[in-house]
Amino acid sequence: MSDKRVITDERMMSAKVVRILLGVSGGIAAYKTAQLTRLLVKSGADVRVVMTEGAQAFITPLTFQALSGNSVHTHLLDPEAEAGMGHIELAKWADLIVIAPASADIMARLAAGMANDLLTTLCLATEAKVLLAPAMNQAMWRHPATQRNATQLTDYGYRLLGPDQGEQACGDVGLGRMLEPEALAELIQEAMPSLSPSAAPQPLAGKVVTITAGPTREAVDPVRYISNHSSGKMGFALAEAALQAGAHVNLIAGPVQIAAPKGVNLLPVQSAEQMLAASLSVIDQTDIFIAAAAVADFRPANAADQKMKKQAGQNEMVLHLVQNPDIVATIAQHEQRPFTVGFAAETQDVEIYAADKLVRKNLDMIIANDVSRTDIGFNSDENAVTLLWQHEGMLQAHKPEQAAKQQLAQDLIEHIIAQFCHLKQK
Ligand code: CTP
Repeated sequence: MSDKRVITDERMMSAKVVRILLGVSGGIAAYKTAQLTRLLVKSGADVRVVMTEGAQAFITPLTFQALSGNSVHTHLLDPEAEAGMGHIELAKWADLIVIAPASADIMARLAAGMANDLLTTLCLATEAKVLLAPAMNQAMWRHPATQRNATQLTDYGYRLLGPDQGEQACGDVGLGRMLEPEALAELIQEAMPSLSPSAAPQPLAGKVVTITAGPTREAVDPVRYISNHSSGKMGFALAEAALQAGAHVNLIAGPVQIAAPKGVNLLPVQSAEQMLAASLSVIDQTDIFIAAAAVADFRPANAADQKMKKQAGQNEMVLHLVQNPDIVATIAQHEQRPFTVGFAAETQDVEIYAADKLVRKNLDMIIANDVSRTDIGFNSDENAVTLLWQHEGMLQAHKPEQAAKQQLAQDLIEHIIAQFCHLKQK
């Protein structure tokens, strides 16, 4: 065999995508499995999620579908799923099965060799390695029955990752917490060395994302302006998340106090009119446009050239304002219309007003947030939002947990990519 052939074969081996079947059983730790899915996908794995009935009480299949990019399996005898990939095929497909969280119940059922739902059946039918991340109350973990099951599972060749020590959701302290997603991802990587962060898929490679962010400043005179409290943090976090997904990012930012993520094409602007001009200058190359800026709705009709002086005896002043152009609506009506996402900052009836803006501004998706809450939103590091879009005439909603803006931005970008790809395929 020639050297060239050997090299090619080695490359092909290292390029093989690791197929992970991620089982989610019922427990409060299930929400952490969303982050674990994200980390595994990022490390290059093809992830398919199987949820038990109990898991679905804590987190929806839609979340895992968006994060893994694959439909989620929930039933043993679902004719539709069986027609796509039947349970035996799924068991053979997996290079590795990871169950996180693994509840006391699933550990007991696996130890007894039961096959009374999809996940237990897959574990019986597979020849792949099975890793379990136990998560339960400390007393349940210490119970001799659970300990016996853990020993039995280890004897079958299953590997237990954790549990961890610490404070539990119920307030108890002790052994039983699920390991953090980052620690689990590392242990899974050790078990499957061909997983590596450098193999991360880049779903937006070759795509251009343009984001408006921060406030606008509308000049009254050379030293005064009308503006708002927007910090730009949410738009900048979205820019970072889009960069990580492989996009070329144009960040059109009003005056803010934060640094732009390294690698973005920063287009600094002051006023709404400048923001619109900058947006139009890149629209032809833009695939996804996200309007995160808090644009001033009105601007002074005539900004004075010189500093305005008080007149003797003047007790009041009237400013004549005119409406600014609506940037996102202009983009959404453009001939070269990119996939367009807006924000809706509301103080009441948030989702109702946002759904109305989605239609009125002709948007593909809208991210609604409640700006009346002082603990989140405008200047804060955290946010809580609802993402809304239409699917076959029905309004769809995704409501991630309140989180740091960076984490939320990753989640939002994943959902935006999923809907963008869905529309492109049509
Ligand atoms: N927006 C824009 N240009 C404007 C006003 C708003 O591009 N002149 C965009 C924002 O960036 C956001 C969306 O429109 O993506 C909604 O902004 P919001 O301030 O919530 O709504 P308004 O359009 O200002 O409507 P209202 O004042 O009725 O809430």
